[in-house]
Amino acid sequence: MKFFVDTADVSDIRDLTELGLIDGVTTNPSLILKSGRDITEVTREICSIVEGPVSAEVTATEFEAMVREGKTLARIAPNICIKLPLTLDGLRACRALTAEGFKTNVTLCFSANQALLAAKAGATFISPFIGRLDDMVMDGMELIREIRQIYDNYGFETEILAASIRTVNHVKEAALIGADVATVPPATIKALVKHPLTDKGLEQFLADWAKTGQTIT
Ligand code: E4P
Repeated sequence: MKFFVDTADVSDIRDLTELGLIDGVTTNPSLILKSGRDITEVTREICSIVEGPVSAEVTATEFEAMVREGKTLARIAPNICIKLPLTLDGLRACRALTAEGFKTNVTLCFSANQALLAAKAGATFISPFIGRLDDMVMDGMELIREIRQIYDNYGFETEILAASIRTVNHVKEAALIGADVATVPPATIKALVKHPLTDKGLEQFLADWAKTGQTIT
């Protein structure tokens, strides 16, 4: 499973890249707002840090303008993946941009039928939002399961990018189901390493080691 980090915070992206933990980045207009930076400038910096796909989202809602914005974003760096909302115009733009060789990420997916349409439009990635479905007292993970089955039934190559991940359990469940990618907030990626028995065990080993009076040379 690939890990993307879901943020436009360059210092978090740098940290996680140095740890060797991430394969790409996803951003969206809300994350750009949170960064307080210009979209072109911050996206260019992110693309200089990360080799893998960096999703940057169009904000136009009509086909021609979406394609125009997508191409403008793609000029920032070769690893840009153009993020498009799951609307009829977004799907049409996805088909047009994919046909021209651009990477695409169809976002704001909340149903299996939407994911089927994105795959038929040739999307590189489909982004089903787990956490936002859970917020509505629905089962976000069930959506990942349905999409996995439909894509496998027909051999679609669109990668399932599990998004709106809020917990470490979301990551585990998405991995068990076979999502190709999880895009995860920085704090949740770091939380994946944590286990109280690891901390307790290490503490005990270090205490016993100190009693031996030895050093490793
Ligand atoms: C995905 O690409 C989105 O940026 C993101 O996962 C949305 O997450 P949220 O529902 O926590 O805002």
